[in-house]
Amino acid sequence: MLSAMFFSLLCSVLWPTLAVTIDMEGLPDTGLDTSSWTTGVLPPLDDIWDLNDMQIAAKNVLSKKFYASYRTAALNEYTYQANLGIYSKVRLNGFAFTDTSNIQTSTTILGFNFSQPFFIAPAAKAGHANKSAEASLASAAGKAGILYVPSISSTLSIEKIAKAGQAGQVMFHQEYVWSNRSRLTDELDRIEAAGFKAIFLTVDNTGINGVRTRSMRFTEGSDTGHATNFDLPALAALRNMTSLPIVPKGIKTWQDARTCLALGFPAIYVSNHGGRVLDGAPTAAEVLLDIRRHAPEVFAGMEVYADGGVRRGTDALILLALGARAVGLGRPPMFANIWGEAGVSRMISLFATELATSMRLMGVADVHQLNASHVNTNQIVL
Ligand SMILES: Cc1cc2nc3c(=O)[nH]c(=O)nc-3n(C[C@H](O)[C@H](O)[C@H](O)COP(=O)(O)O)c2cc1C
Ligand SMILES: *[C@@H]1O[C@H](CO)[C@@H](O)[C@H](O)[C@H]1NC(C)=O
Ligand SMILES: *[C@@H]1O[C@H](CO)[C@@H](O)[C@H](O)[C@H]1NC(C)=O
Ligand SMILES: *[C@@H]1O[C@H](CO)[C@@H](O)[C@H](O)[C@H]1NC(C)=O
Ligand SMILES: *[C@@H]1O[C@H](CO)[C@@H](O)[C@H](O)[C@H]1NC(C)=O
Ligand SMILES: *[C@@H]1O[C@H](CO)[C@@H](O)[C@H](O)[C@H]1NC(C)=O
Repeated sequence: MLSAMFFSLLCSVLWPTLAVTIDMEGLPDTGLDTSSWTTGVLPPLDDIWDLNDMQIAAKNVLSKKFYASYRTAALNEYTYQANLGIYSKVRLNGFAFTDTSNIQTSTTILGFNFSQPFFIAPAAKAGHANKSAEASLASAAGKAGILYVPSISSTLSIEKIAKAGQAGQVMFHQEYVWSNRSRLTDELDRIEAAGFKAIFLTVDNTGINGVRTRSMRFTEGSDTGHATNFDLPALAALRNMTSLPIVPKGIKTWQDARTCLALGFPAIYVSNHGGRVLDGAPTAAEVLLDIRRHAPEVFAGMEVYADGGVRRGTDALILLALGARAVGLGRPPMFANIWGEAGVSRMISLFATELATSMRLMGVADVHQLNASHVNTNQIVL
């Protein structure tokens, strides 16, 4: 009797500490209720209804250090916040009187067929979220028919990631410009031998990663080993090191876009690296608008991919309407991977539903019909 009373007293004292409240970091409030979650324990995937929910779940489960390593951006994170915020400044024009009974999201990227115009962008160390690491990203992407582009700084080797894919699955691979030339040529050879079909060559953080205060609190900043002298002659020399098509990733100005067109690249990838390198760099929407204004020939002459802060199907539609052929997701797949492949598959399917639903509501039956008439960007001042 006395012990039962003591127990209920104990419970009432302890109960408030069991309910998890998590700082949502200003993400849109869509009613996610974390009160039944336990800190450090994977919440049920059924509780998860969008990509922001997955970030909060990852924040609940991962160590502070690993969450910071994924979440961090550079300096004051102005660019990181701008990436998330820019889409709220764009109005979508939905046209009535169109037949949307058959929604087509499939497209080609560098000539290869994919089910969706969005892809899993390269992000280092998927193993910090789940021991399946990049294998679950490759597998989930393959089953959904979307593109996955593993990072050269992955947890698993180039060869292991290639093997984790489905039969016939097309993947590209990211590479950095290492100052160690034999490392560069060795990796390019291994990427080609393992069956990857193209290289995303990241050109936005030569020599240095950017000062990422949030993650530096947990780890020492270190030399990246990237070349600091990567100029146009060095780029020309690098193109001779592989027969795979090369796509420069991290284009942030219309001038560089035009340079890449003149150099005959098949595509460019507009990105500020998720705000992790140059804080203050413009968002992808702004860079695409700049290219449209100053170098519109880029869109006719090459494919343009883009990323940064894409969390909703509508965000992807905005970038597609502004001229992107495909749109990358960086952090969301890493967060989704706390559940392994099941989480990544759910992320892809939730995002695909948002994309197809919003297309239908805009009166767009096929992703290739999206053009600038579908967006009003008057609130973006260039
Ligand atoms: C944890 C993490 C690791 C990343 N690692 C790489 C990398 O190794 N190579 C690269 O080119 N980009 C890397 N990126 C940048 C992504 O490819 C992508 O440009 C960016 O994350 C897109 O922004 P988002 O996270 O808002 O979607 C990384 C991003 C994150 C968040
Ligand atoms: C890509 O899809 C098109 C149209 O469905 C088809 O004609 C083509 O054969 C496909 N290509 C590959 C390599 O599967
Ligand atoms: C350069 O890369 C090669 C091949 O990966 C490696 O064997 C060698 O140790 C590296 N050299 C230095 C100085 O790091
Ligand atoms: C690249 O290879 C081509 C053909 O072998 C050659 O003509 C060119 O000079 C090479 N360029 C560089 C920068 O090495
Ligand atoms: C990783 O993913 C697997 C499913 O692949 C899951 O069972 C497990 O709970 C996840 N978490 C960890 C910490 O491995
Ligand atoms: C852009 O899309 C609108 C709406 O579908 C269409 O009426 C218009 O012809 C398209 N413009 C171009 C240049 O394709």
